[in-house]
Amino acid sequence: MRLHLLPSLLLAQVFSFTSAWPSPSGSLGKRDAEFVQVRTKLTHDHSGRKGDPNEKYFHESTFNPHYDGRFAEKTLPEEDRHKHLTALLQSYLSTMHAIGAETWLMHGSLLGWWWNRKILPWDSDVDVQVSESSIRFLADFYNMTVHRFKLPSINMEEGRKYMLEVNPHWSNATVEDRYNMIDARWIDTDTGLFIDITAVRKDRTAEAGGKKGHLMCKDKHHYREEDIFPLRTSEYEGVKVKIPYAYADLLQEEYGPEALVQKSYENHIFNSEKLEWIPIGLDLL
Ligand SMILES: *[C@@H]1O[C@H](CO)[C@@H](O)[C@H](O)[C@H]1NC(C)=O
Ligand SMILES: *[C@@H]1O[C@H](CO)[C@@H](O)[C@H](O)[C@H]1NC(C)=O
Repeated sequence: MRLHLLPSLLLAQVFSFTSAWPSPSGSLGKRDAEFVQVRTKLTHDHSGRKGDPNEKYFHESTFNPHYDGRFAEKTLPEEDRHKHLTALLQSYLSTMHAIGAETWLMHGSLLGWWWNRKILPWDSDVDVQVSESSIRFLADFYNMTVHRFKLPSINMEEGRKYMLEVNPHWSNATVEDRYNMIDARWIDTDTGLFIDITAVRKDRTAEAGGKKGHLMCKDKHHYREEDIFPLRTSEYEGVKVKIPYAYADLLQEEYGPEALVQKSYENHIFNSEKLEWIPIGLDLL
């Protein structure tokens, strides 16, 4: 398949990066920031923390695992979700780029990039990874920072605020720490949608066994260094993005070779001229 580069949408220029302030203190809380510290509009916390084990830092909401219950009490209507997810992703990528944190796409987000440099229309989340040095950098200097964006797709006068929260367990590099596989979150403080950020680290077990160049995430994904680095530069949803070096191999390994060529998926047909996934039924119009 030929890869097409979409013309730049120049969206990044529309962003206004107006506020980011450093973490108030370096205190090491064991659970995510208290509701009262971060609340925006809710009167009650809808985090599902009650049922979670003590050592688990991030909590999924009581109503849906893709929402942060400190900021939302219900899911978005299906037709709105994609728009907010796109804005979430654009604000994340622009911020990481601006502050110099190394991040790249993986899993379903990378598959969407392969097809048309966009989030797959049926995807309910965004998958990104960061390097070990970047998670340290984010933990040291950007934990609990809030970043305001004015986005054309989201009609809000005052802009929308996104918060970066880093799991203090990021420094525990063992897969035994299974309640803290997510190293950080980028959270839309209005809708409660968030991006899970996972750090790709040296696989210390493999290294101890004398094997070089092996990487891992706490969610148990394993990679070879040369499959990820050097990162390639591209575009995603109109903003600059990095993608892993051997993207096609990684995608085939994860989804099978047919995922890279099959043009019918999840009730959508890929239109190669428009470079869009069109819902079945609308593809004949
Ligand atoms: C980030 O800040 C929150 C809230 O204060 C705290 O619970 C957490 O431990 C901090 N994370 C890191 C990596 O310091
Ligand atoms: C990492 O987390 C696991 C599981 O909670 C724990 O048993 C282990 O002691 C931790 N390791 C470090 C270095 O903190």
